[in-house]
Amino acid sequence: MKEMQRAGSLKELQEGKSLDVMLNGQKIAIFYIDDEVIATSGKCPHAGGPIQRGDLAGALVTCPWHGWTFDLHSGVCTDDPCLALDVYQVKVEGDDILVAL
Ligand code: FES
Repeated sequence: MKEMQRAGSLKELQEGKSLDVMLNGQKIAIFYIDDEVIATSGKCPHAGGPIQRGDLAGALVTCPWHGWTFDLHSGVCTDDPCLALDVYQVKVEGDDILVAL
C-alpha cells in the first residue's frame, strides 16, 4: 500500500501554477488546475526536463525543454503516446496536500 505524504499546502499553490517538491528523493510536480490538485513525476520522461516549469493550457503541460505536451490527468504524452508522466494519487486534507508514493 502506498503511503500518503505531505507535499505542500494549498496556500502555496495558485490556480494555473505548480510546485516543485522532493519526496523520498523523487522530484514531484504538483499542479493546481480547475480547482483540482494533480501530482506527477517532476522529470519529463523524454529527457528529464523540469515538467513543473512547463506552460499550462487547461490540463495540458508543455515541457520547457523540447516542447512535448502531456495530459496531466493520464500523464500520457500527446506527441508520443508511448511516453507518460507518472501520475500520483492526491488527497487534500484541510490545507495539506498529500501525495501517495
Ligand atoms: S525533456 Fe521534455 S520534451 Fe524533451
